Formats: sequence, C-alpha cells, structure tokens
Amino acid sequence: MTLIDNLKWRHAAKSMNGAPIAREALDRILEAVRLTATSSGLQPFELRVISTADLKAQIRPIAMNQRQVEECAHLLVFAAWDRFTPERIDYMFDLTNTERGGANAGLEAYRAYLHQRFAEMDEEAHFVQAAKQVYIALGSALIAAAEERIDSTPMEGFDNEALDALLDLRAQGLRSVALLPLGYRDAEHDWNAGLVKVRRPMDELVHFID
Ligand SMILES: Cc1cc2nc3c(=O)[nH]c(=O)nc-3n(C[C@H](O)[C@H](O)[C@H](O)COP(=O)(O)O)c2cc1C
Repeated sequence: MTLIDNLKWRHAAKSMNGAPIAREALDRILEAVRLTATSSGLQPFELRVISTADLKAQIRPIAMNQRQVEECAHLLVFAAWDRFTPERIDYMFDLTNTERGGANAGLEAYRAYLHQRFAEMDEEAHFVQAAKQVYIALGSALIAAAEERIDSTPMEGFDNEALDALLDLRAQGLRSVALLPLGYRDAEHDWNAGLVKVRRPMDELVHFID
C-alpha cells in the first residue's frame, strides 16, 4: 500500500470497538510525533497517552460525550507549552550543542534572537505559536496511524479548560490543544467509515505559478 492509499483509507472514526493496538505500532506513531518538524526545532508541546478505562470515561463527558474517547485503545492528548520560557528555549539549544558536539556562533546568535523575540510577545501569543506546532504533530500522528492501518479521530471538540484541570496541565506549564483517540473502528456504529471521502478538486486547492 502506498502512502496515498493509506490516506484514502483513513477517516475520522466516529466509533471504535475497544480492541487493543500493538505496542510497537503505538510506539511508531509516537516516534512520528517526536520526529515532526517544529518552528526553530523547539518541540513546544508534550503528549499524554491515556490508556485506563477510568480516565477515558472521565474525559468523555468533557469531550462532547464523543464515544471514541472511551472506546479507543489509547487517547493521545496534545498539550502545548503555555510560554516559551528562557529555560525551555535554552534546553533545546543546549541539547543541540551536546548532540552535535559543541556550540556554534550562528546557533548562539539565533538562541539570543529567540530569547528577545519571545520576551517581546504576550503570553497568549506564546501559546498560539506553540499550538500551531501541535497541529503539525497531530498531522504526523494521523499519517503514521494510517500507515499502521490504525483508526484515529483528530479532535478539537472538548472543553480545554476542564481537561487541563483534570490532568493538572496548567501546573505543568501546558494547555491542551487536541485529542487523538487511536484504535479500531466499530463497523456497526462508525457511520463515517463507509462514506465517500469529499475533498476540493486539486485545481481549486493548488495553483501552479510557473
Ligand atoms: C483539528 C481537527 C479537529 C477535529 N475535531 C473533531 C471532533 O471533535 N470530532 C470528530 O468526530 N471529528 C473531528 N475532526 C474530524 C474532521 O471533521 C474530519 O477530519 C474532516 O471532516 C475530514 O474527514 P475525514 O478525516 O474522515 O477524511 C477534526 C479534525 C481536525 C483536523
């Protein structure tokens, strides 16, 4: 199967059957998230992988009672940094220097530029910048799940503040942005499974400027 075949196969699952997924497949989806591109390489987010029936059941009512939240094998919570603190920025630059075996003047100048840029931005702008990176990671996870032929549902339909409180995210400098239940579709109740995939025609979406 090609990537395009797998993307045609995937859909936003509306119901899942509770079956487990292989740990190796879950790990590959998480690795795709870890490898995703982010602005300045800062990876300004964390994931929570929720697998217990109890916690999934507590989240369902604050996610518009969407059944996939409880029926999935694992519920991924994508949470963005609330702020790009100097410590968070430095962590990634220091890690880069360690991994690459030494500092470099160009990178250090860029570190200083980022410190200044974020110091000039208000806190909500910090979060918006981090949340944009979450969506890139969410896209990577969607594609990786399709490659594994594991069903998923990208979700914004939940009460962010209630979820932040339940998972104590704000105290960890994080704010929830998106959910991704992973599992296998319930053929009887997943009404989206058999529907034709509707997308705008290529020539409306893409314009070549030669
Ligand atoms: C950011 C984002 C948020 C979404 N939120 C929800 C949601 O809360 N519940 C849901 O059932 N589908 C949700 N969807 C799924 C979209 O409705 C779906 O991807 C779109 O209609 C295209 O259909 P397909 O993914 O089945 O091809 C969301 C999709 C994205 C990308």
